[in-house]
Amino acid sequence: MSNVVIIGAQWGDEGKGKIVDLLSRELDVIVRFQGGNNAGHTIKVGGEQTILHLIPAGILHPGKVCLIGNGVVCDPSVFLAETEQLEARGVDVSPARLKISRRTHLILPYHKALDVAREAHKAGRKIGTTGRGIGPCYEDKAARVGVRAGDLTNPALVREKIEAALVEKNALFRLYGCAVLSADDVYDELMGLAPRLLPYLADVPGEIDAAWTRGRSVLFEGAQGTHLDIDHGTYPFVTSSNTVSGNAAAGSGISPRALDRIIGIVKAYTTRVGSGPFPTELTDPTGEYLRDKGHEFGATTGRPRRCGWLDMVILRESVRLNGLTDIALTKLDVLRGLPALKICTGYEYHGQRLDFPPQEEDGLSHVTPLYEELPGFSEDIAACRAWDELPVTVRDYILRIEALTGVRVSFVSVGPDRDQTIRR
Ligand code: GDP
Ligand code: IMO
Ligand code: MG
Repeated sequence: MSNVVIIGAQWGDEGKGKIVDLLSRELDVIVRFQGGNNAGHTIKVGGEQTILHLIPAGILHPGKVCLIGNGVVCDPSVFLAETEQLEARGVDVSPARLKISRRTHLILPYHKALDVAREAHKAGRKIGTTGRGIGPCYEDKAARVGVRAGDLTNPALVREKIEAALVEKNALFRLYGCAVLSADDVYDELMGLAPRLLPYLADVPGEIDAAWTRGRSVLFEGAQGTHLDIDHGTYPFVTSSNTVSGNAAAGSGISPRALDRIIGIVKAYTTRVGSGPFPTELTDPTGEYLRDKGHEFGATTGRPRRCGWLDMVILRESVRLNGLTDIALTKLDVLRGLPALKICTGYEYHGQRLDFPPQEEDGLSHVTPLYEELPGFSEDIAACRAWDELPVTVRDYILRIEALTGVRVSFVSVGPDRDQTIRR
């Protein structure tokens, strides 16, 4: 198989983990290229569930190499805890197959404290972050004061960076009325973890290049979703990295020419965690039905996810931004039992019809979704393993999505388990 990028096409939690795990069987190297442990990627194999926040979702396949790229922000304690949990279940997480780029920025305790303090002080405009320190860590990266994984080989540099960072951060903590942090504590904690982290450090671009030379293929595992992208998402209600496919190259240190196939993961309806506009949101019993049947509670924070109908306007934008070559449609089984299925095909905005989201910052809060209605289905599709086994109403729903996006639906997921997937 050629190289593949997996991208969330909505607001995250589309089922990326499931599809990455499924495709990892056929590829050799799996790379995370952005985000951090704000992600929660769920895999289910034979009824056993694994939720990964930082380690690539290819790790359950023995022998596959899993890489954390430079574009990721890595919380050292979360990384080590995740490796321990996997190891306890017999998964090989040795540095022979799990590596972190030396250029990956580290999330430190002051990033987490600042994330939480800022949100607490935002009153009306809370983003609803995961509180994992993602934004403040990317801020330090952009400000050129971050601590990178490779710095762990130079304790004096780490010490210097932490001291300098805390001069500013502690001023902010005083402003927010929170406890200040001591450079000794932050340094001691980090350097206490360093001996266990150092074996994982690697030259990720070099690893990928060497794999190609040997004819291996790479899967780039996106986190979050296209509409949480820092530039193209519903700013300011976004995450702090570029989530679009183009960042697979920059965030792992390879050429964009290497990105062959770009698969957008699309949930058969829409969900969103945290604040921000969501035109097709349902705050009625249908929304609750989707939340209950789809178990729509965050894999990272446990927060209930907001639920609504499928929105083709935001999907059309995702097709354009990512250059999607394929769609993997997930959670179709959840729609079972609804009398009718609605698809938003356009927006009304200031008396005009829009096929793409408005460009104004708050525009999406002021659109009215325009729907078309398709018949619902009552058949249990969880056991379907071939296109022909799907009821006609379900096939029609899928074909309508293809027609409205212009992209082939190559994978249909009818349940959380690895096996509950139809390939076309
Ligand atoms: P990710 O962040 O994109 O990897 O998605 P999450 O893991 O946060 O959320 C997706 C949830 O849906 C997980 O609980 C999956 O086990 C589950 N899931 C994935 N595909 C399907 C499907 O086709 N049907 C059902 N019912 N659940 C699914
Ligand atoms: P996966 O990879 C869904 C959301 C948060 C919040 C906003 C900013 O599992 O799909 P952050 O902590 O990143 O600063 O929060 O982004 N968010 C996600 N929503 N799935 C995710 O990841 C998310 N990662 C961040 O809820 O609205
Ligand atoms: Mg998730």
